Amino acid sequence: MSLMFDPETTVYPFPPKPARLSLDEKQFYRKEIKRLLKERNAVMVAHYYTDPEIQALAEETGGCVADSLEMARFGSQHPASTLLVAGVRFMGETAKILSPEKTILMPTLQAECSLDLGCPIDEFSRFCDQHPDRTVVVYANTSAAVKARADWVVTSSIAVELIEHLDRQGEKIIWAPDRHLGRYVTRQTGADVLCWQGACIVHDEFKTQALQRMKALYPAAAVLVHPESPQAIVDLADAVGSTSQLIQAAKTLPHRQMIVATDRGIFYKMQQACPDKELLEAPTAGEGASCRTCAHCPWMAMNGLKAIADGLTQHGREHEIHVDAALREGALIPLNRMLTFAAGLKG
Ligand code: 13P
Ligand code: SF4
Repeated sequence: MSLMFDPETTVYPFPPKPARLSLDEKQFYRKEIKRLLKERNAVMVAHYYTDPEIQALAEETGGCVADSLEMARFGSQHPASTLLVAGVRFMGETAKILSPEKTILMPTLQAECSLDLGCPIDEFSRFCDQHPDRTVVVYANTSAAVKARADWVVTSSIAVELIEHLDRQGEKIIWAPDRHLGRYVTRQTGADVLCWQGACIVHDEFKTQALQRMKALYPAAAVLVHPESPQAIVDLADAVGSTSQLIQAAKTLPHRQMIVATDRGIFYKMQQACPDKELLEAPTAGEGASCRTCAHCPWMAMNGLKAIADGLTQHGREHEIHVDAALREGALIPLNRMLTFAAGLKG
């Protein structure tokens, strides 16, 4: 187990929140973005955790709003020559690795992810070198360099299935970077997994006692939990899954109320999927405590309307994703394995 990174004590360089826009400014940027998307032969690919107005714009303009696996798939298959990726940097890098011929723009290149930040390539590579007998499986929330060091890339929507598959083949595994998801897949599969100790600053904050009290207040509600959350939160869940799996669970579970333990950005599509249900935010802080992210990823929040318009107008160093050619070649192999494996599960 790596002790090189401690998510409890790490201070993250939180970004400033985007400036609030007036209604007129919002209207202006929405129109401008629609025009620029057409002019640039570009399409928007947005994650469920971006703000509702960004997801709505992606929908209105023929783009997609999805989990990280579907974002990768959609982007690589879409005929547009430019992808505007509204999410965090690893999502833009994944798009570039899969579609090097496309221009990949992001509203900002400063949109990090605590999992990616908590898994620097040099330390991670040394860790892997110490365990050469293990198959290296990394979450999509990693840098291109970490992906290039891995045998497999995976997202939360297929993590259990992939680890099960590798376990059946007798493989011992290194899992990185998320410690909670690593422990979740280990418990689900019984596989031999050595886990890197990264954490998502959003999901790590859900609080067990406060959630128990909320369950007591809403005894008829189902609890939906993303597996990047701590074990004690997962133990209280009626459904555990990736963002798209949680939306599906909200639709299919018979409960009228849902307590949702993931980034609140998901409420936009979840409410669309089940308009007659009441969605409640799981608590991120106990009484007297304070939350750092309060159920919204500060880096996802950087994807504002102005930043998107700037990205489509300016390109250049501030907005365009580039991936070193050698790293790209290395990272493409485990990424393609992931897509092929996911396609096999679908079929
Ligand atoms: P999924 O969309 O794959 O569930 O991942 C969630 C996430 O961590 C994105 O930041
Ligand atoms: Fe990373 Fe967590 Fe933000 Fe997702 S929500 S981008 S895992 S910090």
